[in-house]
Amino acid sequence: MSERQDLAGRHIVLGLSGGVACYKAAELTRELVKAGATVQVVMTEAAEAFITPVTLQALSGRPVYTSQWDARPDNNMAHINLSREADAILIAPASADFIARLVQGRADELLSLLCLARPIERVPLLVAPAMNREMWAHPATQRNVAQLRADGATVLGPAAGDQACGEVGDGRMLEPAELRDELIAFFQPKLLAGRRLLITAGPTFEAIDPVRGITNHSSGKMGFAIARAAQEAGADVTLVAGPVHLPTPRHVRRIDVQSAQQMHDAVLPLAARHEVFVATAAVADWRPAQMNAHKIKKDGKKVAPAFELTENPDILAAVAALPQAPYCVGFAAESEHLLQHAREKLLRKKVPLIVGNLGPATFGRDDNTLVLVDADGHRELPTADKLSLARALVCELAERLKTSAK
Ligand code: CTP
Repeated sequence: MSERQDLAGRHIVLGLSGGVACYKAAELTRELVKAGATVQVVMTEAAEAFITPVTLQALSGRPVYTSQWDARPDNNMAHINLSREADAILIAPASADFIARLVQGRADELLSLLCLARPIERVPLLVAPAMNREMWAHPATQRNVAQLRADGATVLGPAAGDQACGEVGDGRMLEPAELRDELIAFFQPKLLAGRRLLITAGPTFEAIDPVRGITNHSSGKMGFAIARAAQEAGADVTLVAGPVHLPTPRHVRRIDVQSAQQMHDAVLPLAARHEVFVATAAVADWRPAQMNAHKIKKDGKKVAPAFELTENPDILAAVAALPQAPYCVGFAAESEHLLQHAREKLLRKKVPLIVGNLGPATFGRDDNTLVLVDADGHRELPTADKLSLARALVCELAERLKTSAK
């Protein structure tokens, strides 16, 4: 992720208020810097009880601000300078007390002062709460959080889980990598705001017996990258995934399936409720006609067992044939004659867009080269990592949705 420098050119003010989750702020600072951001840390007095400015200065490469009386700025107005320079202010951790202070517009220490002083239309405020579950659930906190949102802040999390106090529940601060990804997503243009996307990804697994099956090398990475890119662009995303070892992109609804038939049965009832269907899954074309209830044994036989195969349903063609069909995008993974095969699939599956790639060269890799093939011609998206390509495809889809009848 970080090689892409998704936060390059962004200047982030990272504010720490008091809480055990301050230990995560060190890692968060590293993650933001690795993603290309410049990070200016500002700490409250309570935060300094949990972690020292020394650590955060070392990790951010910038002296930390802790006081509104800091005499370093020539104009002696740290709250003005810091808030004017920022592309976003991220408070992580945000304690219950600090959230209450934001809601009240308090300004008697540097961090709440600079939040109040920020140009509200230009410098977004993101807040990552961290507190005990009872404090989080308390009506006072819930009231404050609702008010904070109404005042334009974006609230990230909190997550549920084990808490420093030993209790279990809502109130854990999101992990550093999650907060980094939330920030990256926050800055992406909302090209698909309000759109609903359905995506298939990964291989399918066609069982021969309870322990064996037919599958392929698809890793699911391209489909998962498209799900993430679409979600970052503001879409509501459902991802139907074959057996893959990938984490679910944040805020994406995921349905796990094994076989092509299961993928078909999961997709078809949902398809008409979506505006776009992107079929990246490497669906097995054939499955054993019969699944053996028990493991097929060698039992000393020298003759290999023979299987009869039967055809799987074509999910993409079935969706494209629906009366209320979404805008359908197929993928063609080929080992040769990519353009020709892609064009054939465009016609055979009756879809407006096929995205071609050279299968064996891309399976499992983090980068890819894509070619977009439609009725008018073709256009290459140059080699890049799969998330960058997914974002380029999202731009393309946004344009096509504007002009398509749907
Ligand atoms: N696809 C599908 N259901 C299937 C087979 C394929 O939805 N049973 C989708 C894939 O997700 C992809 C596109 O159709 O978007 C092309 O898949 P591919 O397997 O490459 O094409 P096939 O029609 O199977 O043609 P061939 O195997 O001859 O290349």
